[in-house]
Parts: sequence; structure tokens; C-alpha cells
Amino acid sequence: MPYRRTTLSKFIIEDQRRSGAPEPDLTSLLNDIQTACKLIALATSRGSIAPAGEPREPAVATAVNVQGEQQKPLDVTANNIMIGTCEWGGQLAGMVSEEMEQPYEIPAAYPRGRYLLVFDPLDGSSNIDVNMPVGTIFSVLRCPGGVTEPTLEHFLQPGTAQVAAGYAIYGPTAMLVLTLGAGVHGFTLDPEIGAFTLTHPGMAIPPDSHEFAVNVSNERFWEPPVRRYVDECVEGASGVRGVDFNMRWIASMVAEVHRILIRGGLFMYPRDSKDPSKPGRLRLMYEANPMAMVVEQAGGAASTGRGRILEVTPEAIHQRVPVILGSRGEVERLVRYHADYDAGADQPFKTPLFNARSLFRTA
Ligand code: AHG
Ligand code: MN
Ligand code: MN
Repeated sequence: MPYRRTTLSKFIIEDQRRSGAPEPDLTSLLNDIQTACKLIALATSRGSIAPAGEPREPAVATAVNVQGEQQKPLDVTANNIMIGTCEWGGQLAGMVSEEMEQPYEIPAAYPRGRYLLVFDPLDGSSNIDVNMPVGTIFSVLRCPGGVTEPTLEHFLQPGTAQVAAGYAIYGPTAMLVLTLGAGVHGFTLDPEIGAFTLTHPGMAIPPDSHEFAVNVSNERFWEPPVRRYVDECVEGASGVRGVDFNMRWIASMVAEVHRILIRGGLFMYPRDSKDPSKPGRLRLMYEANPMAMVVEQAGGAASTGRGRILEVTPEAIHQRVPVILGSRGEVERLVRYHADYDAGADQPFKTPLFNARSLFRTA
């Protein structure tokens, strides 16, 4: 009987004890978050199965969310699970979710606490119908002192202010990956005992990699430094990089980040010109910031291309941001390409005479 294994609950308590300044409310909140993730794992794993005689899918009302995206029933279910599991315990002063236009107010029946919870209840939900990995992303912030009824401005804190961040991935196994600001640790849900169990202590992103992930169908909307980077990857051993690259695109940020934590690589949803009102696809507060904290804590880097994601000052809770993250060496290269471009120093690449369709190209 593996009773000496480290469950997530035990890990959090021991980690808090080691910190010298344990925060019991944070321990309780993280326990509620892990319970919510188990419930969402169960909901996703049941797929289209429903008890005999019941409708094929739960009868939840879906709508077009604040992002302008059509919700799936599981987006709504996951959102309801996060709220219902985390609102009652007295640790939270408020919540922000991808699926809610305004911050969620803790009902008056429950005590208000010191933390704010910001989350994407179901990331990659376009993958649900095709049985591909999805996940939940979460970020814990402190509620400013003396505030019991937080408003928008109280949530607008930079990623550097996060107390804890992580994600759950619902793939062949369910895992929860967590950082409390000192390393990144991965826990696999053991279905026999219903507990997340420490399986990946001290996750570290390899500094260099030859694998990239980007939605190439957006290429015509990219900025030149991003085109330069991807062109060089695609040229492989015959180009300036001198080595062949591999490409992946799962369309689920949790799955991309998880792969990068395990074997390295670069993931990006860079700035594009598709819709000038949106500087990127991914949302700063509940996608980019928690993932940037995880990636940095695992030794990787996370940038907009022109600055650290964690240092962006949020102006709106659903704000979008360009995201480039993963193996440090690759992220730094792409940041350098942005700097070259902004300084006008990569002129040869921008000139048709010298690019892939160059008049001077010999091979
Ligand atoms: P969500 O399902 O929460 O709206 O997020 C989906 C995000 C992210 O997970 C993924 O990287 C990206 O959208 C995929 O975008 P494309 O559909 O443009 O590939
Ligand atoms: Mn998402
Ligand atoms: Mn989502």
C-alpha cells in the first residue's frame, strides 16, 4: 500500500511549513482548487456518456462569452464547478473567469477572504469534441489590504504579484502542475485513491530545444521577427540554424506548456494584425500570467517579444497579450529578433532581394 507517497494536500502543507510563514488560508484554497480540478477531470472524462435515460449532454445554458466565442457546455460546467468549489471556504474576496464578463462576487452568505482567484475553467475547449487534451489554468493573487468587496482595479495586478499559479491537464492521465514561487511540481491523479500524487518534483525546462509550436495559418498576419524565426526553423539543417526542427500544434495551451515542461520547446501565439483591437489571442490574467510564472519557475522564459509577460501592467481583466514562452535559449533568440527589427537592424531579411525568394538565392 503506497501510503507514504506525497499527495498534493501533504505537499502543500509541508511546503507551507517549510516556508516559515505558513498561510493556512492558502492551503485551504489550493485544496479547494484541486477538488475542483478533480471534478472537472471527471466531467471531461465522461464525455458524451450520461446515465441511461438522461440527455446525452447536461442541459446547461451556453452563450457567446465576453471573448465573442461560443461556449461549449463543458466551459459552463467547468466554470460552475470552480465557483461552487471555491466560493464557500472564506479564503476568497472575489474571482475572475474567462467565462464571466465581470468579476464574480462572493455571496453574502460566505465569509470574505484575503485572496483573489483568476482562472480559465476549460482551456482548449475547441478540442473537447475531438477528444484531445484540455485543462484548467489558475492564478492566485492577494486582495489588497482592507478590501472586502474587490472591484475591477483590485484584480489588475501584474503577474509578478501572483502568490501561486498552475494548471490541471486532462489528458491520458489527469495532472496538476503547481508553483508557489519556488519551483514547479507535477502531481498525477491516482484514480485508485482519488488523490493527486507527486510524480514530477522540480520540473525543469531544457534550456535549448528544436521544437516549436505556432498556428502557422496566421503567418500572413505576423510581424517580421516572428516570420524570420519560423522561416529559419523550417529551413532546418540547410538554413542559418544548421539543425532540423520539429513542429507541434495542439490548440490547447495547457497541453503545449505541459509538453514544454517535459521536453522543452517554444510555444507562441504572437502579436498579429488580424484584428488591430487585439494584440494577441491569449488572455493576460488567466492564461499568460499563470503559465509565465510556471515556465519561469521551471527555468524557462516567457515574453511578449518586447518584455517579460509577468511585468505587463494589466488594464482590463480580459486583456489579450502576445505570448512567446518555453526554452530559454529559443525565447531569448526571438526576443533578440524583435529588438533587431525595432532597431531596423534586420534589414536584409525584410528585403525581398535577400529573403527566401531572393534573386540571389542559389540553392
Ligand atoms: P480557450 O479554449 O480557453 O478559449 O483557449 C484556447 C486558446 C489556447 O488554449 C490555444 O493555444 C489557442 O486558443 C488556440 O487557438 P487557435 O484556435 O487559433 O489555434
Ligand atoms: Mn484558454
Ligand atoms: Mn477557456
